[in-house]
Amino acid sequence: MSKYKVVVTGAVLPSALSALEEQCEIYRWNNNEPDETAKRLQAAEGLFVASKIQINEALLAGAPNLRVIAQPAVGYDNIDIAACTRHKIPFGNTPGVLVEATADLTFGLLLTSARRIHEGWDWVRAGKWHQGLPLPFGVDLYNKTVGIVGMGAIGTAVAKRAQASGMKVIYNNRNPRPDEELLKAEYRTFDQLLAEADFIVVLTPLTEESRGRFGAKEFAQMKSTAYLINASRGPVVDTQALYAALSTKQIAYAALDVTDPEPIPADHPLLKLPNLLITPHIGSATMETRNKMALLAAENILLGLAGKPLVTCVNAEVNYR
Ligand code: GLV
Repeated sequence: MSKYKVVVTGAVLPSALSALEEQCEIYRWNNNEPDETAKRLQAAEGLFVASKIQINEALLAGAPNLRVIAQPAVGYDNIDIAACTRHKIPFGNTPGVLVEATADLTFGLLLTSARRIHEGWDWVRAGKWHQGLPLPFGVDLYNKTVGIVGMGAIGTAVAKRAQASGMKVIYNNRNPRPDEELLKAEYRTFDQLLAEADFIVVLTPLTEESRGRFGAKEFAQMKSTAYLINASRGPVVDTQALYAALSTKQIAYAALDVTDPEPIPADHPLLKLPNLLITPHIGSATMETRNKMALLAAENILLGLAGKPLVTCVNAEVNYR
């Protein structure tokens, strides 16, 4: 039986590669070679996107045999879903499997910045413990309010961790959740949340509506003691406005797992600020979770190639053939 032709962009974990290789002829190329996606797509039936390249109308128009696209990530702001649907190509992301790992990292950023764990470690390494210099003091979580913007599966998992630390949970979504009583979380309008929260956790997906949602106006509405934690996508926060708010102490602290630009250059002015912590987009980066994501994306590719519905499909209207 001849094998399916599948293009893989970027680095893919060995578990997913072996699963694909059983049934597919894989086209891959080294990162340091020019991007060959368009050329290779001319013959491809499947596309495994491991490098977050932009998938748009022009690319799909040049891929007449493409029947499925999958990406090992929950976010898909790099994918033009309407274009995939026009071309009747199901697109699979990987929600669910990364919820707990991403919630751990998100809450970890909140806890680490509040308690200055990273600063304490720097302080020890710099030999300051023995010199008796003042410790970098943090702030309590207990009795504080966390405001979650984008209360989906990850937000709910962050809320549980915050509640275990004695925090009150408020949230903002387009609409209140019907299960909010069960979640012990209270709905607020966006403006109310900005004014009330001690810690604001951003988990909203990047859309045209959420792009730049946190800018100068929003920072002015926040408490001067507020912490901002962004674990969604960098462009949801206006980087220049954040720099201004942190450097003038309009807000107290920021902890980011995502940045704009991303990666953030090592000489970026933001990195000189003392009241900031950045991790390199590692929300789901555990061995177990990244493997589950890669295997789910591979499974979606194989199902799509076999003309079967994907396990997790964003454009469900083309998931049945
Ligand atoms: C990570 O950012 C993801 O979207 O899975």
